[in-house]
Amino acid sequence: MEKLIVEGGKPLAGTVRISGAKNAALPLMAATLLTSGKHILRNVPDLRDTRTFIKLLEDLGVQCERKGDTVTFDSTHIRHSEASYTLVKTMRASVLVLGPLLARTGKAKVSLPGGCAIGARPINFHIMGLERLGVTCLLEGGYVDAEINTPMQGNVIYFDIPSVTGTENMLMASVLAQGTTVLKNAAREPEIGNLVDMLIGMGANIEGRDSDKLTIHGVDKLVPADCAIIPDRIEAGTYLIAIAATRGHGTVTHCNPAHLPSLLEKLRQTGLVVTEDVSTITVETPDTIKSPFSLDSVDIKTMPYPGYPTDLQAQFMALMALSSDTSVINETIFENRFMHVAELQRLGADIRTDGHTAVINGKGLKGLSGAPVMATDLRASSSLVIAGLAASGRTEISRIYHLERGYENLVEKLTGLGARVWKERE
Ligand code: EPU
Repeated sequence: MEKLIVEGGKPLAGTVRISGAKNAALPLMAATLLTSGKHILRNVPDLRDTRTFIKLLEDLGVQCERKGDTVTFDSTHIRHSEASYTLVKTMRASVLVLGPLLARTGKAKVSLPGGCAIGARPINFHIMGLERLGVTCLLEGGYVDAEINTPMQGNVIYFDIPSVTGTENMLMASVLAQGTTVLKNAAREPEIGNLVDMLIGMGANIEGRDSDKLTIHGVDKLVPADCAIIPDRIEAGTYLIAIAATRGHGTVTHCNPAHLPSLLEKLRQTGLVVTEDVSTITVETPDTIKSPFSLDSVDIKTMPYPGYPTDLQAQFMALMALSSDTSVINETIFENRFMHVAELQRLGADIRTDGHTAVINGKGLKGLSGAPVMATDLRASSSLVIAGLAASGRTEISRIYHLERGYENLVEKLTGLGARVWKERE
């Protein structure tokens, strides 16, 4: 196993290019199961999760070939309709094959993902939605065994809570169903807009893109896709926070600032200067003549898009540990997403949690010092990298395979910004 060494205390500076979004690439890859032929996806990040998803598709019979950041998927032959526990347990997003496999083959057997480090994460909305379309779902032996006897029939589906992958599964299940499906209280994350665009490009008839009501008029057939993955807003946000935490001056490029409304506002509230262009965002410390710069503390509450993303909560907490006062972070999406707190405390952060709330007593921009810490999940790990970059001395982060799930070329990109960071064998 490898660990990440971070020699902190150096302001990041320069530019960093953002990759395609992991959470858009996964559903778009799943959608290639919908119809026979050769699909092309561009700007596909090369990550542990996208590689696992390609393995899953290959196991189902899809021939996948990567050239640079373009991947072709020949889904002419589907061998079987089962996503095994071995694959699903390494990546919960495997559940995304449920909708398209049902639409294409009329059956799908997918292992139940089970809980993960950040919460229980049930898939009851996915199952309820499919049942509303006429699918029979049996839960047996740790699997959901889904089948249709007659073609899926459009219906009205309502989600109690907007679910990202739930919305994506319903879109993929209903595009080829008979009649009209209306999905109410749908999630509105930009990654869903990316999937809607891909499906429309394949011949689907969908109204309500970017809204919480999606209307899907079933069509008889689809054609193969040629579609680009949108930039990763969470990766962009992570680098912006890292630059901010080190009092640096840097620009993220090839991103979409419109996809980060809440983070950019929150960064501005800390007193940092944030400027945006069509596809770049720059963050820098203001010139202060009166007194040295200090970060103002800012509260956040995670919410479905366009609210503050839960996937940037841990990173913002690392930033707030460096602020000049007290801030409150409320996590409303996942019940166990404060795993990074104990590790940030090892770096000197002053944080208390009570249920879904964390109170951070900022210790100032020089308030953290390096220590050995352990990565627990993807975004928690990136908050430790940020804290390590801002801390004085050396931070060693073990279990970095979590980071490799979602950040393409992390070490190279950080080094390009001037960070002193490298991998070592444990
Ligand atoms: N929920 C249910 N039942 C369901 C589905 C969801 O109760 O059937 C609840 C969840 O427990 C949670 C809330 O609804 O409280 C929202 O969960 P959602 O279904 O939206 O999460 P997800 O689709 O499993 C995606 C991302 C996550 C991201 C969340 C929230 C992908 C592949 N994953 O997960 O990304 O945190 O949406 O935005 O798109 C990450 O990238 O690190 C990551 C965890």
